[in-house]
Amino acid sequence: MRRWAKYLPITSDTPMVSLGEGDTPLVRSRHIVQRVGCEELYFKLEGCNPTGSFKDRGMVVAVAKAVESGAKALICASTGNTSASAAAYGAHLGLLTTVMVPAGNVARGKLAQAVMYGARVVAVEGGFDVCLHLARTVADNHPVRLVNSTNPHRLEGQKTAAFEIIQEVGGAPDGVFIPVGNAGNITAYWKGFVEAHAAGMSGRRPRMFGFQAEGAAPLVLGQPVAEPKTVATAIRIGNPASWKGAVAARDESGGTIEAVSDQEILDAYRLLARGEGVFCEPASAACVAGLLKMAGRGVRFDRQRLVCIITGSGLKDPDLASAGDTKARPVPAELDAVERAMGLV
Ligand code: F0G
Repeated sequence: MRRWAKYLPITSDTPMVSLGEGDTPLVRSRHIVQRVGCEELYFKLEGCNPTGSFKDRGMVVAVAKAVESGAKALICASTGNTSASAAAYGAHLGLLTTVMVPAGNVARGKLAQAVMYGARVVAVEGGFDVCLHLARTVADNHPVRLVNSTNPHRLEGQKTAAFEIIQEVGGAPDGVFIPVGNAGNITAYWKGFVEAHAAGMSGRRPRMFGFQAEGAAPLVLGQPVAEPKTVATAIRIGNPASWKGAVAARDESGGTIEAVSDQEILDAYRLLARGEGVFCEPASAACVAGLLKMAGRGVRFDRQRLVCIITGSGLKDPDLASAGDTKARPVPAELDAVERAMGLV
């Protein structure tokens, strides 16, 4: 908040708190860049934020503004990351936080965070869209502040990631690739790039390329999806709240919003980990899957500088990550057993 204060809705009454959000690494690709055939490819590692996802950038602003206006309690609906972030900033600022999550469809690490930060977790028998409807209704009827991305302060905070990218690479890139769920983040990035351009921070604006999972792709289909399904639970959303913002980002920037299959998401998830040393959650990999898919069908990115937004940490979803062959069998504590396990003898 301090670094970008002049671009944020901050007043002398806003509590200037921080858990260390923002200033996340921009890592240059060494492997995937060759498959894509672009000049430069970067990964913006938003999983390096304090609760392990990009949500912290916007949450710190939303919760600080809630405190400024006298709120004592917070509520959000979430596929997991928003709840972890709201719970953390709620704890930091001494607010009671309630999180509403789809029962059985939240990655284990995210739930563990909400519980540890002391939030009241309400697991709803329904998907994210129902949770958001209920959370909005509670906030309308009780003195509880809604901190979903429908809260404009969230988007204000999230737009700062665009400023960081511009500063680090010296102007806006040619293309930004981003996973889309409730569509707040693509809306916030576009807002950031537009404002930075207007303020003279960058001579141009990027094209925005959003990616949804095939089973949860309302923006691609042009209509809500009643029963969204995808392995990427973070973006398992059938009726995004920031629908209009996402469409505006796409159309004003000359970009696209496309769908990728669960298999393409999982392939990109593994490739990022093994080929780049970047361990993200499946939803984050959707944008890399989308970039690879476009390159695979012959879209040319030569001489272009591209950025993929890696929205959350792989440690959020330990069950999916360890579903592979990680159950190493113990070996005796002897040199020959170790050498055998390594295939050396
Ligand atoms: N990536 C991750 C890791 C997410 O958690 C989300 C959204 C997105 C991408 C999509 O961002 O919603 O702004 O389009 N997670 C929300 C949540 C919905 O509740 O944590 P979006």
